[in-house]
Formats: sequence, C-alpha cells, structure tokens
Amino acid sequence: MLTEKSTEKTNRVINYLRLSITDRCNLRCVYCMPEEGINFLPHSEILTYEEILHLVRLSVQNGIRKVRLTGGEPLVRKGFINFLTSLCRIEALKEITLTTNGVLLKDLAADIKACGICRINISLDSLKAERFFQITGRDYFDRVWEGIQEAERLEFNPVKINVVVMKGINDDEVLDFARLTLEKPYHIRFIEFMPVGENNGWSPQKFVSTREIHEYIGTLGNLRPVRSNALDGPAKRCVIEGAKGEIGLIGALSNHFCKKCNRLRMTAEGHLRGCLFSDQEIDIKTPLREDKGDAHLLNLIRQAIKNKPREHGIERYGPRKCVRQMSSIGG
Ligand code: GTP
Ligand code: 5AD
Ligand code: SF4
Repeated sequence: MLTEKSTEKTNRVINYLRLSITDRCNLRCVYCMPEEGINFLPHSEILTYEEILHLVRLSVQNGIRKVRLTGGEPLVRKGFINFLTSLCRIEALKEITLTTNGVLLKDLAADIKACGICRINISLDSLKAERFFQITGRDYFDRVWEGIQEAERLEFNPVKINVVVMKGINDDEVLDFARLTLEKPYHIRFIEFMPVGENNGWSPQKFVSTREIHEYIGTLGNLRPVRSNALDGPAKRCVIEGAKGEIGLIGALSNHFCKKCNRLRMTAEGHLRGCLFSDQEIDIKTPLREDKGDAHLLNLIRQAIKNKPREHGIERYGPRKCVRQMSSIGG
C-alpha cells in the first residue's frame, strides 16, 4: 500500500530521497574529497543495485516520490544504466534525477535520457581549465564542458550547473557564470561553501554568502524571482531580465531551509541519514542482509524520518563539522 505522505515531528513532508550509489569519484574536489587519507568502502559493504532497488520500493511505500542519485560520482559505478532502467520502472516515483560531475556525461547522456531522465545537475566550479584542475585535481575541464553541451543538445531541461563559491578561489567568476544564463538555457546555481567532512578546507574567510552573490549578480541587470515547484530543492530561483537561463542561490548555511527540508539520505553503505550535517544514522543494510523482513525495514525508514533533526543549527552553534566526507553522503 502507498502512503501518500510521510511527515515527521515538525510536520515536514519527507518525499525526496538522495541516494548515494558509490563513495568513489574520478575527481578530487578540494572541498569534498582530499587526495590522501580517504578510506573507500570495500565493495562488499556497498549496497548492491538489487538491494538499493528493494529499499527504494520500500521508501516509496513511506511517501518518497523523488529520488536523486549521487555519489561520490554516480556515473563511475559499473552497470549504472541498467540500474537506472530498473529504477525508472518504479511507477510511484514522480521524479528521478542525478547530480554528476560531468566527466563521463558526454558518452552516457543519451542512455540516461533514454531511461526517461529529463533533468540533470552538473557540478562545475570554474570556467577556466587551469583553475578547474586546481580545484578538482584532474585535467578534465574539456570533458565536463562537452558533457554539459551534450546534455543541452539532448534537451535535458533544465541543465543545472552547481557552482560552490569560495572566496579567493573562484568568487571572481560569479559574473562570468551568471552571464552564461543570458545566452544559454542553463540554471546556474551558486552554492555556499559548507563545512562537511574532516579537512575540507572550510573557513569563514573562504565563505561567500548568497546575499553577496545576489548583490554581484544584480549589477548585470534586473533580477526577477521565480516561484519554486513542490519537489524543488533548496535553491532560491531568479532570472536576469531577458536571460535564457536562470540563477539559483543555495544558501546552505546562511539561509537555512531546514523548516522546509523534504529529504532523507541513504549512503552507499546503506545508512539512512536524516540531515546532511548530522552524523546520526540508521544502518538499514545489516537487517536487510540478515533478512529481518520488510516490515522491520519499513519501520527503520519511518524511524529515520521521525528522528530527522529539526535543523542543522549552524548559524546558532557555529559550523559543527560532520565527520563523514561529503563524497560519502552525496551532497
Ligand atoms: P534540485 O533542486 O532537485 O535540483 O536538487 P538539489 O539542489 O537538492 O540537488 P544538488 O545535488 O544539485 O545539490 C545542490 C547543493 O545543495 C549541493 O551543494 C548540496 O550539498 C546542497 N544540498 C542538498 N541538500 C541539502 C540539504 O538538505 N541541506 C543543505 N544544507 N544543503 C543541501
Ligand atoms: N559545500 C557546498 N557544496 C558542496 N558539494 C560538495 N561538497 C560541498 C561543500 N563542502 C556539492 C558538489 C555537488 C553537490 C552534490 O554538492 O559540488 O554539486
Ligand atoms: Fe567527486 Fe563530487 Fe566530491 Fe567533486 S564534489 S570530489 S565531483 S563527489
């Protein structure tokens, strides 16, 4: 039986599951995955595709209607397209999409589209190849750019581009990114740099608020707000008058959207997580592998929803870094 809505203690409707399908990645973004010292999960600890599909079917019974595939980098996992095909057969899901770093997108975009995926989010923090290399540790700017163009050619709508803005690193490119929306139908989303994971380089000096970004972009023209849809994420949307694309501002720290947060996360090793910033997790893989039965698993999903923290509390208690690396949570 399908539950239409799954609400938790503050009556938030939890209908969006962010599913990390791998902790591996083919980039090493400075703010996410340090070059050294990462302990990747052994393959046996990563949920198999069959296990993931089973848990998604159960989540749907608990009100989940949107799934976003994340990583690490979701496209590096073998058999991704077959998995996506199966996921897309789960009828109750109204929206399935993914967040990718774009490195493998050029070759996979057509297959992804053929599965019925219409929207896609791509991370890109610089429009300069050399700086891209400094931020990601890999010389793949051209590949990512070609992936973005391929997504546009195939008419993914929208193509969202995620830019994590860091002072002294790429904040001088905010206007170049915003200008792209004048000619291209992209949704450029500026994201506040978040203190997630050990040693991710976050400091108040590198932080740029979405308020500042809004002010810079305002110098390009009149910014008109755009209304959000029910399943939309946390971006505040707006358009530069006359532009083909959109701007999104994700005030992950300054303008926390906890009151409206509709998401649950599942890590690649099968832990349910109520909040990006809280290391409180529920292990659902062990009971799944011990054949504890669907009623028990459903109960764990309900518990994860019920125990979802009310807020991250960062603006009140300061940046309490969570221990897990961003790459193993999936953003
Ligand atoms: P859509 O609006 O559906 O396109 O998705 P999204 O913006 O939620 O997804 P995406 O994976 O592109 O994430 C964009 C940025 O928002 C990333 O930096 C995420 O880490 C951040 N983000 C996503 N969910 C949360 C959240 O619950 N809390 C906070 N603080 N940041 C989040
Ligand atoms: N702060 C803000 N955004 C981040 N992302 C990864 N780490 C961070 C961080 N520390 C973004 C990626 C990707 C999305 C899933 O999360 O750039 O676009
Ligand atoms: Fe990989 Fe994404 Fe982390 Fe960059 S932010 S290292 S692309 S998982």
